[in-house]
Amino acid sequence: MANERVTREIPIPGSVERSLLDEETIRRRVEELAAQISADYADRESLLLVGVLKGAFIFLADLARRLTIPHHVDFIALSSYNRGMVSTGAVRLIMDTRAPVTGRHILIVEDIVDTGHTLKYLMDTFHARQPASLRTCVLLSKPEQREIEVPIDYLGFEIPNVWVVGYGLDFADRYRTLPYIAVLKREAYE
Ligand code: IMP
Repeated sequence: MANERVTREIPIPGSVERSLLDEETIRRRVEELAAQISADYADRESLLLVGVLKGAFIFLADLARRLTIPHHVDFIALSSYNRGMVSTGAVRLIMDTRAPVTGRHILIVEDIVDTGHTLKYLMDTFHARQPASLRTCVLLSKPEQREIEVPIDYLGFEIPNVWVVGYGLDFADRYRTLPYIAVLKREAYE
């Protein structure tokens, strides 16, 4: 229908604070990351972007469409054992990639690094498969929360220790399709 508008998830009134990163700020940074990655991988063949579901699906879609070099896209799905919003550090593989990894240039695309356990698990898993190279591209990092040091080769933004939603990130599977990144108010989950 001509007049039908795309529906976007509307936050429960009062549950999210003003946006931490607005659409334009995210768009510009994703463009910069894509330009940097395109330059760095210009002379390499068979770049495989591995998006970590579900949180990275929007970031990966925007990033991949801005790359100017040939690449393939695949996904992996993980589940972390959480106590409420606190990670216990245990990670479980729910869905593996389909594409072969050995001998390829792998770029893991993740939404956010908090304690670092998830990214550490991914690094170990992919290292064992003997890729030609292995790097990470992460939209958000909460450095104050880190329990394990993990290498982030391409980083969007550092943020403080707050729970954020939108642009793929969720709280209890909600708010993923907000077009911006917002801080969830403590009252919404406490
Ligand atoms: P880590 O293993 O503690 O680094 O946690 C990484 C995972 O926790 C991410 O992939 C997210 O799924 C989730 N996570 C951590 N902080 C946030 C947040 O602020 N909003 C949404 N998800 C988060």
